[in-house]
Amino acid sequence: MTDATAVQPSRTAMLAAVARGVHRLYDAPPRVFDDPHALALVGSDWQSLYAMVTGLLPENVVRQAIGLIVARSRYAEDHIADGLFTQYVIVGAGLDSFAWRRPDALRATRLFEVDQPATQEWKRERAASLALPNHESHVSVAADLEQATLAEALDRAGFDRAQPTLFSWLGVTIYLNTSAIEATLRTVAACASGSQIVMSYSPTDDFVDPIGQTLRNALGPVATAAGESYETLMTPDDTVDLVRRCGLVIDDHPTRDDLHDRYFRARSDGLTAPTSERLITARVPATT
Ligand SMILES: C[S@@+](CC[C@H](N)C(=O)[O-])C[C@H]1O[C@@H](n2cnc3c(N)ncnc32)[C@H](O)[C@@H]1O
Repeated sequence: MTDATAVQPSRTAMLAAVARGVHRLYDAPPRVFDDPHALALVGSDWQSLYAMVTGLLPENVVRQAIGLIVARSRYAEDHIADGLFTQYVIVGAGLDSFAWRRPDALRATRLFEVDQPATQEWKRERAASLALPNHESHVSVAADLEQATLAEALDRAGFDRAQPTLFSWLGVTIYLNTSAIEATLRTVAACASGSQIVMSYSPTDDFVDPIGQTLRNALGPVATAAGESYETLMTPDDTVDLVRRCGLVIDDHPTRDDLHDRYFRARSDGLTAPTSERLITARVPATT
């Protein structure tokens, strides 16, 4: 992370939204994840961003990059389907459009979107220019998680630690230092029992296959040029240890093959998830 992200909106957030958008635009239904607002939120730049990615990467790698983004978003939102949570915190929300896709959910769930101020400001302007409505349950929480903890940021925003909460934290840990990662997990662990976090992390290179490595190597310089350098890769074992040490219980830690079986098995369009990012679901245990 450099000063650039303090003043300009996140480029990696735009790239993730482009992936969700082109999945909707070009891939045959059924969609793994359906985001009708993604490309509109990015604006007309989406075409040059997509051209940049397709120019950098072979087709099979692009397909896995798109697969990664739609699988992780789907995985997170599958956890809200049963309506157990009264708060939903999206940490490093980027251009997530849950607020506009699921106004029904906002009737019973407060949504907190945490991100760098410049990204949030830009997103608010884009949403206003698209006439996307403001909902009173949709709260923006400006924070740099390397400067303030998630707990400090949420405390300022009216978050209630006693309420069952789902946290989603997708595509962010790679851009944070280990103290910020640990502080975020400890914030979650201090919430009401039954609260959950769905997070992704980027495994060290020895756990990444050649396609995942090509993706990581090609997008690293793009992220660095945008002031969003890779900071933290973690082995799966170290990640599991960290999550547990912070006081959480792991419910799910799917491999790439597991994700393929869940979301892509019936497809023949090359869409699958790469090995360059893993997902974990963990929960706050019941107090004894
Ligand atoms: C790759 S994007 C992912 C966005 C979104 N979660 C998604 O899946 O589309 C990474 C996001 O993390 C945010 N981020 C990175 N470092 C951060 C920090 N130190 N504090 C707060 N947000 C941060 C960026 O601004 C960006 O929105």
